[in-house]
Amino acid sequence: MSAVIETLGLRKVFGDHVAIESLDLNIERGDVFGLLGPNGAGKTTTIRMLTTLLAPSGGAARVCGFDVATQPSEVRRRIGYVMQTVAYRGLLTGRECVEIEAALYHLPRRDIPLRAEVVLEAVGMLPHADRRWTTYSGGMKKRLDLACGLLHWPEVLVLDEPSLGLDVQSRHNVWGYIRDRHVGGATVLLATNYLDEADRLCNKVAIIDRGSVVVQGSPSELKRAVGAEVVQVSTGEPERLRRAIEAERWVKKIIAGEHGDLHVYVEDASIALPAVMRLGLEHGINLKRMTYSQPSLDDVFLLHTGRELREVGAAS
Ligand SMILES: Nc1ncnc2c1ncn2[C@@H]1O[C@H](COP(=O)(O)OP(=O)(O)OP(=O)(O)O)[C@@H](O)[C@H]1O
Ligand SMILES: [Mg+2]
Repeated sequence: MSAVIETLGLRKVFGDHVAIESLDLNIERGDVFGLLGPNGAGKTTTIRMLTTLLAPSGGAARVCGFDVATQPSEVRRRIGYVMQTVAYRGLLTGRECVEIEAALYHLPRRDIPLRAEVVLEAVGMLPHADRRWTTYSGGMKKRLDLACGLLHWPEVLVLDEPSLGLDVQSRHNVWGYIRDRHVGGATVLLATNYLDEADRLCNKVAIIDRGSVVVQGSPSELKRAVGAEVVQVSTGEPERLRRAIEAERWVKKIIAGEHGDLHVYVEDASIALPAVMRLGLEHGINLKRMTYSQPSLDDVFLLHTGRELREVGAAS
């Protein structure tokens, strides 16, 4: 087995607040691994421990075979880290920012101009390289940070919320660059609370909630485990509707979402949809809206945590 990132019982406590309970992760070479979870789940804390910026309170973690606690410089040499918040780069041009960062990585001075060109090109920023950072849009700033993370051709690329706050077009651009990078062979660890982002990019995901892994696997595996189809019904009387339909043969599981919606997991929506309508009529329950879909990672999250992962700030 070729684990690139391995954690065993990794734990972080801030004062009396347990941010990470006990985390076991196994990320293999070439994986694009998604760490998913709502705000405060512990994604950034985990990433900061793996990138050696934060000392674990317990357990162990190894990156490329090196221990984060005892061999931090070996670990740092092998990872590129793009933070959740955009780095402030003041009045410099994009190219100057990248070249300064390259010097901080101790890249040989004579290699720096070419290396800067390569990474700026990789994220589509070469045409804007000589403009000042202050004139860039949010998406361009994020792409510049990504370019900096690629500078030393890391074996492991760690991205914390790579498309946070971006518009739809910029999100798709960033996803394209991450996919290209993956084709380049790097292992990618990506924290996000956009489930669609994880679904598109990741071959494996771990959903974490309140500092523990709730479930992990490939997105398709996790979605298959939810069931065949999801009927979502919106009604002012979700409890009555639940009682009316929960004994039906075609119901696998019902979960109440926020806003009074019921998520009904079924084998075959073509049987369930007319049956829900009929039961609504029979019991005099007003159905406001009804939709059905294939399970998404949202359904996986809802099924395992009983809560919806709302995409706060999602642009689509
Ligand atoms: N330096 C710190 N001191 C005290 N508590 C902290 C610190 N950093 C994080 N926490 C707490 O640890 C928990 C996990 O935070 P973390 O930033 O890892 O979450 P996250 O999953 O990255 O959330 P988000 O989606 O908002 O980025 C939160 O309850 C947070 O308040
Ligand atoms: Mg975070």
